[in-house]
Amino acid sequence: MFFALSLRFRRINGSSTDTMNSVTMGKCRGHGRMRLAAGLAVAATALLFLGNAIATGVANRAEWQKNYHRPSEIPFPKSNPYSEAKVRLGKILFFDPILSGSQVRSCATCHNPALSWGDGRGRAMGEGQKPLALRSPTLLNVAWIPKPGWDGHFRDLESVAMGPITGATNMNLPEKEMIARLAAIPGYVDAFGAAFGESQITKRKIELALATYERTIVSGEAPFDRWIAGDEKAMSEAANFPAQWDPKLGIHVT
Ligand code: HEC
Repeated sequence: MFFALSLRFRRINGSSTDTMNSVTMGKCRGHGRMRLAAGLAVAATALLFLGNAIATGVANRAEWQKNYHRPSEIPFPKSNPYSEAKVRLGKILFFDPILSGSQVRSCATCHNPALSWGDGRGRAMGEGQKPLALRSPTLLNVAWIPKPGWDGHFRDLESVAMGPITGATNMNLPEKEMIARLAAIPGYVDAFGAAFGESQITKRKIELALATYERTIVSGEAPFDRWIAGDEKAMSEAANFPAQWDPKLGIHVT
């Protein structure tokens, strides 16, 4: 910060010297003094501006810390509390193509962890390799989305899963067939038992387990998170410096 300020100050003096050099020194002395005074005034204003801006930057930092601090816990609803067994079951279901009619498509086909939990396509590709009307959104940090869906039309995460599974153009697996397929696999029966205390497989349990797993899909800690937490060196100078003194520029996280 002060390095930049002294650079600016030197440039002001430099320009007055340059002008003086281009005319005879005798004629220009008074003029030169005026320019130097003007330069100092500009520098003083710049100092004032920076002083204010630093104060504003600090105030903003406190504001940002309030609004953008990394949550310490994932919010699980009372109606579907966290359990390790439920997450384990939800994860297996999420990656299992048995949940599609053709047995080739799982939730992870469109919400692929290797593609930031999206599918890298302009539009999702459904059953029969036909494009759907919408793009697959990422599932990163989906636990904090109050109303899922591009237009927020889902009530909660639990109510999303059956849409894609039974949708004819999406995964295309009728509910009855879904239950029958899972019930035929002893490993699944055990996993439902471990997650819910009794092993009967139901549509509701599938929704609960998938949603619990999805809530654990959380983005890694970014330099911005560390900066917000107080680590001054966490972000690059380019990203950090403007945010310190000109709140109008905003923060650039790359
Ligand atoms: C063929 C691609 C495809 C498959 C397979 C698929 N999804 Fe999606 N998913 C989408 C699309 C497209 C949307 C956007 C839907 C909307 O906005 O109405 C979406 C939205 C979602 C959302 C809301 C995310 C948000 O940020 O609002 C969740 C949660 C979700 N899917 C979970 C699942 C689960 C669980 C499965 C498996 C049972 C699954 N998806 C299978 C394409 C897919």
